[in-house]
Amino acid sequence: MPKVILTGDRPTGRLHIGHYVGSLRRRVQLQNEGGYDKMFVFIADAQALTDNADNPDKVRDNVIEVALDYLSVGLDPQKTCIFIQSQIPELCELSFYYMNMVTVSRLQRNPTVKTEIQMRGFGGESIPVGFFTYPISQAADITAFEATTVPVGEDQKPMLEQTCEIVRRFNHIYGETLVEPSILLPDNAACLRLPGTDGKAKMSKSLGNCIYLSDDAPTLKKKVMSMYTDPEHIHVEDPGHLEGNAVFTYLDAFCKPEHFAEYWPEYESLDALKDHYTRGGLGDMKVKKFLLKILDAELAPIRARRKEYEQDIPAVYDMLRRGSEEARATAARTLDKVRCAMRINYFDDKELIEEQAKKFKQ
Ligand code: TRP
Repeated sequence: MPKVILTGDRPTGRLHIGHYVGSLRRRVQLQNEGGYDKMFVFIADAQALTDNADNPDKVRDNVIEVALDYLSVGLDPQKTCIFIQSQIPELCELSFYYMNMVTVSRLQRNPTVKTEIQMRGFGGESIPVGFFTYPISQAADITAFEATTVPVGEDQKPMLEQTCEIVRRFNHIYGETLVEPSILLPDNAACLRLPGTDGKAKMSKSLGNCIYLSDDAPTLKKKVMSMYTDPEHIHVEDPGHLEGNAVFTYLDAFCKPEHFAEYWPEYESLDALKDHYTRGGLGDMKVKKFLLKILDAELAPIRARRKEYEQDIPAVYDMLRRGSEEARATAARTLDKVRCAMRINYFDDKELIEEQAKKFKQ
């Protein structure tokens, strides 16, 4: 079976370093190492509309922002098919058939949907139908491209589980047709869920605690220097704590052994640095400056590439159009298989026509 990698992002804002360590960096690495047959990366604008119905401009405007982020981190449209979800109408048709494979109670048990229902109250009566059923449309996204590997964050686990259930149910009823995907999670805890600069559990636009890939150097500096560390580490000589200390979590996500030789030769490794910090006698400012150097080295080329792509926006839309055309052709092939398996390809199914003819003939 061909190895197909697929993943997507909702265009509700520019992408931040949480997205980067959680999935983007991995995609670029996979892309450049090869060892798979095809990679699809898409902008999930239709899914973003399921909970932004009253804010379509936000979704539309962020499509190009996300595309710029993709290109600037090094996704290469020559190697990776980059497309816009809403441009693939086949996904809607697949979703419509998959809806018959899922019960209301199963959707209500999906943790993401469940949280949303609780947030809105009214026993879920006020939840938009489109939002309620988006796990089904996500199953269409994944199966339309026969994805085998889906690199995403931990929060997407329930979506992948639900997709696998739909695949199994469909294949059970109609015969082996759809491919069951597996999730590819980041391999380190810091990358799995990067906290915000304020130390809060998650980097999120609404909390204003994000470092964006597109932040300029002074903004990056300001954000890093005001990061949350250890509230009990008041004097330099006080012992510091690593637990919940965002600066050290970011180091876990970004620091490589060679950074010490380059920026801070007094320490030989992150463990040695952590040792000194927990012993006491190491100030937060020094650690932050080190982190800033590491982040700036990683983000400066991304920022520079973005600036270049920003100069030719029509070319970026053109790249998305070509990607969407290619993606559509693939999704159409899967849809054909699905219609065939369901035997609703009436006009191409000669046997069916003969069967029916025989049945009616006296
Ligand atoms: N739900 C994903 C998110 O919120 C985006 C997404 C939509 C996706 N369809 C997908 C991810 C298919 C992986 C595969 O980030």
